[in-house]
Amino acid sequence: MNYQTLLLEKKENVTIVKINRPDKLNALNAVTLDELKQVFISLRNDESVSVIILTGSGEKAFVAGADISEINKLDMISAKAFAEKGQEIFYSIENMNKPVIAAVNGFALGGGCELALSCHIRLASDNAKFGQPEVNLGIIPGYGGTQRLTRLINSGRSAEYIFTGDMIDANEALRIGLVNRIYPQQELLDKTIELAKKISSKGQQAIRLTLKAINMVDQVSDTEGQKYEASLFAICCGTEDFKEGTSAFLEKRKPNFKNR
Ligand code: COA
Repeated sequence: MNYQTLLLEKKENVTIVKINRPDKLNALNAVTLDELKQVFISLRNDESVSVIILTGSGEKAFVAGADISEINKLDMISAKAFAEKGQEIFYSIENMNKPVIAAVNGFALGGGCELALSCHIRLASDNAKFGQPEVNLGIIPGYGGTQRLTRLINSGRSAEYIFTGDMIDANEALRIGLVNRIYPQQELLDKTIELAKKISSKGQQAIRLTLKAINMVDQVSDTEGQKYEASLFAICCGTEDFKEGTSAFLEKRKPNFKNR
């Protein structure tokens, strides 16, 4: 399928989804959101894809937010639908059946920060800048930022950044746990592909069940989460990957996972 605002590239079992509106710093308009929804539906069902990388075109921005020319036209009724639509798509990314890594290659502001937050892992270039500057537009984050940022970096920090709209540079993002690693801009994509390939070399049944378990953390109590983990652990032990992984260890050889 051809997309107007996305570029897709495949490297073995890794698919790179690049948001491609560099003249607008990859701002998310309605078309981009619809295409993101579509691409994640099709990647969910594509068995040849193990890991997805999400990044932005150019060297300046990952995504500089929702498209302000569209926000400007919202009224109270359309605004609710606007926020709910973005939230639903970002929720589907968070609950994807395979890992999604954000390669944050510049500004990740507003909806761009929220998009990165909905990914499972964030790596950043040294020029990356995160932030929730909605307050400067007289609004609050609407694509999950108040919730995900607060859970990730704690409520005091999240409140300060959302109240002030201040940007968070790459070093600060690393310090507060917003990103896992920082790389020079030119190395970011290669390093992200390296990580994605490492993950894709593991048994994908275990990776998918790990995602389910991790995503349960915010939904249920610790006791319920541990019960769920035990059930997923039991499912793992019914897979061919489990037989192969444990046998390979005992036979002192590399496992050859079939993802079954
Ligand atoms: N929505 C729509 N257009 C956007 C945009 C957004 N969120 N962010 C950037 N753009 C557009 C600019 O309007 C400009 O378009 P133009 O060339 O047609 O005028 C182009 O992208 C380049 O942006 P510009 O502002 O000229 O770049 P800059 O380097 O001077 O500043 C930013 C970069 C990111 C600091 C600045 O673009 C900005 O503050 N963007 C808005 C961030 C924001 O508030 N996001 C949250 C939205 S909810």
